[in-house]
Amino acid sequence: MFTPLRRRPRRLRASATLRRLVRETSVTPDDLILPLFVSETIAERAAVGSMPGVFQLTVAEAAEEAAGAWGDGVRAVLLFGIPRHKDEQASGAYDDGGIVQQAVRAIRAAVPGMLIITDVCLCEYMSHGHCGVTHLEGGCLEVLNDASLKLLAKTALSHAAAGADIVAPSDMMDGRVAAIREALDGGGFEKTAIMSYAAKFASAFYGPFRDAAQSAPQAGDRKGYQMDPGNALEALREVALDVEEAADFVMVKPGLAYLDVLWRVKERFEMPTAVYHVSGEYAMVKAAAANGWLDERATVLETMTAFKRAGADLIITYAARDVARWVAEDAAE
Ligand code: PBG
Repeated sequence: MFTPLRRRPRRLRASATLRRLVRETSVTPDDLILPLFVSETIAERAAVGSMPGVFQLTVAEAAEEAAGAWGDGVRAVLLFGIPRHKDEQASGAYDDGGIVQQAVRAIRAAVPGMLIITDVCLCEYMSHGHCGVTHLEGGCLEVLNDASLKLLAKTALSHAAAGADIVAPSDMMDGRVAAIREALDGGGFEKTAIMSYAAKFASAFYGPFRDAAQSAPQAGDRKGYQMDPGNALEALREVALDVEEAADFVMVKPGLAYLDVLWRVKERFEMPTAVYHVSGEYAMVKAAAANGWLDERATVLETMTAFKRAGADLIITYAARDVARWVAEDAAE
């Protein structure tokens, strides 16, 4: 006999207005952080081939881009520098007149309210492309942890002195959050916050970034310092260390392939948690959309929603300007 259905979940899906009323997770422009690549080696913007819509910018162009992003509703940028000169001590990273330091000042002057985050890493500034100081040991390339900490701390201090609001170490050396905190406090920058790339995996999805930042290691890979993709419990231990060392934000990177890690990190630590929608994730959608295989806007917005649903408070994405515009359009509908 036919039993009339009383529970009908579809009732709440009947119209767009109802669906919005019961939506649990939404993305807002306040969640977004836009990465910018600032280069000392170019006279005008240069397209990054593997990342359509992303450019290496001059300092002046970075300030313009930040102003444009502000107009779209984006309130935070994350700066990466490409120096003219690379060496074995990454001296460009902590040069007070370096490319990131110049960009911080220019963006601050052009868009005073913009939250300026700087990536703290040495790979772009090292002639060999590794994230720390290297040393040859029995023919084997070793990335030295403690020697790298000194340079990372100097870099973070120099970014803070230029006016960065938040420094974001992405190198994955042990103890770098503590080393950076100590240097910042020692320099009178107690208010500068640290966003730690706490659970950063050795990922194939970083490929396009290394074109953009010209930071591919010339020999070897980053598996000796970035995390193994199989390890979620280790990710919790990594995050615990960074929280103990006084990180103000923690990050999981990449995003889509690590949503389980993101969820666990948020549940366990209840910290302001960022996710990095990395270059390869961005490039895949661009490539499929260019072929007419995916609807770019719908795919990107669904991805952003997934990040929020899995626990992200903040999303670092190359699509930030588009996302900010799209969600504003949707909200106005
Ligand atoms: C620097 C750094 C990388 C990314 C952010 N900071 C590259 C790497 O670790 O090789 C990757 C970001 C992306 O792929 O979008 N260490």
